[in-house]
Amino acid sequence: MIKLLIVFFVLTLLPSKSFSDAAENWQLGFQDPATPIMEGIVNLHHDLMFFICVVSIFVTWMLGRTLWHFNEHQNKVPSSLSHGTLIEIVWTVTPAFILLIIAVPSFSLLYAMDEIISPAITVKTLGHQWYWSYEYSDYLNEENEAVIYDSYMIPEEDLQDGQLRLLEVDNRMVVPINTHIRLIVSAADVLHSWAVPSLGIKCDAIPGRLNQTSLFIKREGVYYGQCSEICGINHGFMPIVVEAVSLSHYVGWISNKLSEQ
Ligand code: CUA
Repeated sequence: MIKLLIVFFVLTLLPSKSFSDAAENWQLGFQDPATPIMEGIVNLHHDLMFFICVVSIFVTWMLGRTLWHFNEHQNKVPSSLSHGTLIEIVWTVTPAFILLIIAVPSFSLLYAMDEIISPAITVKTLGHQWYWSYEYSDYLNEENEAVIYDSYMIPEEDLQDGQLRLLEVDNRMVVPINTHIRLIVSAADVLHSWAVPSLGIKCDAIPGRLNQTSLFIKREGVYYGQCSEICGINHGFMPIVVEAVSLSHYVGWISNKLSEQ
């Protein structure tokens, strides 16, 4: 049994050939990052895990020793000591110092996530009950129309082989890789949340308010996400699919879309 567990853990640590850009069965860790921000989130998580392990092992050890040495059988005559200045300074300053160390990578990540670097493309995404719609208003066709379309989940009975249940949509959001993209998120009716784990984005879609976030995808792929704010009966049935393609593919796609409008 232990051998089996070791094999299992070694296998989970080995790099896999394909990327995990959608949730997998029995998945414990993160999906594979596709943006610098998600890489930062994963790294910060690993940094924090170090401190969490050290602190919990130390506290458990202290608690164990205290219970062992100072129970009434071991320690028949209790000490009348009620406080000690030095130990109180130590156990106040040490956690404060740990928090201070953690704050450095945490704040740098926070500000990096907030930064919007002169975006080349702006995509507006609107949450509806219960689907998403996307607007590419950087380009207009001869009739002065922008690219606007809806993105619905594919119902279970219409799924093709290989498509992911409750995650696949009819019209994906298509964006180019290695490009700074501005995402504008809002909602048409109630609160929704546009979230894609591999891209490190979870942005609330709030009616009457525009939220802005940025996106820089490093590799081509299909990234799956779900609405992440309880928004009604079909909250679980309004997934998000982002298709990241090369710039030339994207140009072809958007010009097709423009002529279709
Ligand atoms: Cu839309 Cu939950």
